[in-house]
Order: sequence, then C-alpha cells, then structure tokens
Amino acid sequence: MDLFLDTADIEQIKQGFDIGILKGVTTNPSILLKAGKSRSDTIKAILENSNGLLFVQTVSDKYRDIMIEANELLSFDSKRIGIKIPVTPDGIKAIQELKKSSVKTLATAVFSTSQAIISAIAGADYIAPYINRMEQNGIDAIEVIEEIRNIYEMNCFETKILAASFRNVEQVIRTIKAGAHSVTISYELFCDMFNNYLTDKSIKKFAEDWVALNEKIKIKQ
Ligand code: E4P
Repeated sequence: MDLFLDTADIEQIKQGFDIGILKGVTTNPSILLKAGKSRSDTIKAILENSNGLLFVQTVSDKYRDIMIEANELLSFDSKRIGIKIPVTPDGIKAIQELKKSSVKTLATAVFSTSQAIISAIAGADYIAPYINRMEQNGIDAIEVIEEIRNIYEMNCFETKILAASFRNVEQVIRTIKAGAHSVTISYELFCDMFNNYLTDKSIKKFAEDWVALNEKIKIKQ
C-alpha cells in the first residue's frame, strides 16, 4: 500500500517526508492555488523537499496540448514526476501514449466504475476516485471502490486504486477496507491517523513511571 500526501505546502511536505513512510505527493490546480506560487516554482520546491513521486495534473483539454504539457512537466525530473490527467477521451488517449514511454500516470476525477475500467484499459498506473466528492453527491463511494477492485482483480489489471478526496480518517479506513490499494490524504488527515488520546495518556503514564522507577532506585542506593 502506498500513502501519498495531497498538498503543495512545503512545510507540511518537509514534516511528512521526515517520518519516512510516504510514497509521494499528489497535486491539482486547486492545491497549487492554495500554495500561491507558479506551478514551476511549486514543482521545484516539492522535488527539493521530498524524495518520492510527484503527480502533477495537466490542465489542457486537447490530446496534443495534454502531451505538450506532460512533456514540459516531465522535464523537471522524468524519474520522479508522474502525470495526473482527468478521465476525458483526450486524457485517456494521452495516458495510453505516455504509457508507451513508461511515464507514470494517474487518471484523476474518477467518479464511476466505467471510468475506472477505461483508465485501466488505457494502462494508467493509478486511478484517483474522489471519495468525499462522491459521498457529497449521493454516490455510494464504498460500493464503487468494491466494484472497481473486483473488476480489476477479475481482469488482472495492474492499475492501482489511489483513492483521493477525504474529510476524515473513518472515510480513509472504509475506503481501504473496500479495496483501495492506496490513498492520498491531506497533511491534517495524515496527522490524525497517528493521533489517539489513549496513546497520549499511555505515554504520559509510562513517562511518570519511568521517573518513579528512577526515584525508587535512588532511594535504595
Ligand atoms: C487528488 O488526487 C484530488 O485532486 C483531491 O484529493 C481532491 O480532493 P478534494 O475533494 O478534497 O478537493
């Protein structure tokens, strides 16, 4: 299972990658807008401050323009940049073409099983179904993930489900339980995955008992 951070905030990326378990970073134009710098500057900064894959989304509509944009993005670091492309007919054509040169691709804005099937046939390395956005629109996201995973297994597709768009840890767990291979989450959710008040309470008690043990030994000596 791969865990990605869905952010372009450099401080968050530094903190997250310092722990060492992240596979990479995913971005989209809305995430870049939050970061507030040019796409090029943000890409350079992310590459410098992380050590995994970086998926950058194309914004062109037409196949030829998507290919030009993809090649520009790859020029930053062809080994670490992956191309994230929305699942339109032109996008699917670009995914298939990029696959021929072993470029890592992520078919994004996936809201249905049929889009997941098309992306897998095109040879996408990953698909990004948007869990929270599905649930906000009355789609049973968990059923969609289960269905995609079953179809991928039955057809021996190598495409991985990299689920995206989460608001809470519970959504992340339900999605993984339903069959997502991987997830991309915000830094806040990444931190939430560690947090548990009982862990804090236990650590506090261990620290107190450690002090008490040392006191006890001192008294005996
Ligand atoms: C990542 O691939 C998606 O672009 C992103 O997770 C969408 O998430 P949102 O619904 O929180 O904007």
